[in-house]
Amino acid sequence: MLSALQGSPDQAWSLSEVLSACDWHDQAQSVGAGQGLADAGLVSVDEQVSVIWMLGDEGERAHTDGLLEARLWNWLVAQPESARGMSDLNSSVFERHETGPGVGLLKGLGVEIIAGSLTIPTDTSEVSGVSAILAERAEFLASLVEGTSEESLDSSMLAHFKGRKDLVVSSESVSRTWTVTEAGLAVDSSALVEAAQIADITPELLQGDEWRNAEFKPYDVNLESADPMTGKAHPMQALIERIRSIFLEMGFSEISGDYVTSAGWNMDALFIPQDHPAREMQDTFYLDNPASIEIEDEHLTAWQEIHEHGGDTGSLGWGGKFSPEIAQSGLLRTHTTVNTIRHLAENPKQPCRVFSVGRVFRKESIDRTHLPEFHQIEGIIMEPGANLPMLVTTLKTFYAKMGYPEVRVRPAYFPYTEPSLEVEIKWRGEWLELGGAGIFRPEVTEPLGCSAPVCAWGMGLERLAMLVLDLDDIRQLYISDLEWLRAQPIL
Ligand code: PHE
Repeated sequence: MLSALQGSPDQAWSLSEVLSACDWHDQAQSVGAGQGLADAGLVSVDEQVSVIWMLGDEGERAHTDGLLEARLWNWLVAQPESARGMSDLNSSVFERHETGPGVGLLKGLGVEIIAGSLTIPTDTSEVSGVSAILAERAEFLASLVEGTSEESLDSSMLAHFKGRKDLVVSSESVSRTWTVTEAGLAVDSSALVEAAQIADITPELLQGDEWRNAEFKPYDVNLESADPMTGKAHPMQALIERIRSIFLEMGFSEISGDYVTSAGWNMDALFIPQDHPAREMQDTFYLDNPASIEIEDEHLTAWQEIHEHGGDTGSLGWGGKFSPEIAQSGLLRTHTTVNTIRHLAENPKQPCRVFSVGRVFRKESIDRTHLPEFHQIEGIIMEPGANLPMLVTTLKTFYAKMGYPEVRVRPAYFPYTEPSLEVEIKWRGEWLELGGAGIFRPEVTEPLGCSAPVCAWGMGLERLAMLVLDLDDIRQLYISDLEWLRAQPIL
């Protein structure tokens, strides 16, 4: 291609000129060669985008059968004057959907409706004017059969057809010309040989021997390419997987639990007083079905003793009267602490390190930072000698592995832990609260039969996701915005 272009240095070569000069038949070949030469600075490319007009579906039909107004006009002039009424038209060969718009088109050509009859202008020159217009329109459509660029079309005619449905459609086309540059001219033409380069390595190619002496086209990683559209995990799911693998690698096992549970396991087992504000209807989703979930008497009695007077723990309890009915109300879990509590109830003597990542439900109004359904990262360490530094170190290790090495804890309050902590991480110079932690109170562990201390924590997942994905609106995680999802990094 370069030696062809060198032969006519001032020429802007069109695609067809390059094809015939090089004796190529595939336009991709000249576009590819031209791009390669342009990348090397040996030719300059001029790209012109033009709009091409073609026949639409209706246009194709009009081109073969005639335009509606032309068919109607021909019908009209062939009818005796007494048979040009609207009723004649309706009983004619024209279809219902054609007559309405057709009459409109005829009126535009000067046909009038007088006393219910379609009336042709009396003036013969006006009549021949109509025929001329119809001929021009047909000719215009005929010129679009192969597609014509916008500049070479009559603009008022184009405007007329653009206003009609499906008659004409447009598309963009790029035409390129190539001109040799000074650097291109300076290349010694005797050194230019045409060699085929192999771009695709196919099984057929490898079966033969030809590839042995062939020249391979080098990869150009700077070329523009289409973005591959592949499936990948939702960022939230990917984050959950990452959290899982961090806890697993820290020696924890995963546990899970049901969304539906009783107030007893969600709250009473955690020594949350039965009149605690967080238990109210406006904060918790209580269920109609099951409205009540049975709890074994042994648990109900143990919790009753603890809540009313502290059981054998030496605590005073909350006083008042414990209601087994309230304890048995069905609800959607408000935290995943119910998972760890049930694990302890089932394995009270077995030291453990377990975690769960799960969905919880609270009656929150939806806004930038709140959702009524969200996830918590929950965990416990139960073993003789478990203590506060062990808890803090575990959380620091977890967040460091997540990429947030600066963690601090502050005193907090939960009815079920003592001491209680708030966990914060530093992000862009600010301390952000991510969850709660502490050591379960005896009022929680004794009724379950645990004697070793239990370090516990529960942290927000969406909050963390907002930091990891750099979001300022939590709703972005759940609106299935495909554009955004595609742009997300693989975590
Ligand atoms: N359950 C608490 C919450 O939902 C977090 C927590 C878990 C606090 C375990 C202390 C111990 O915010």
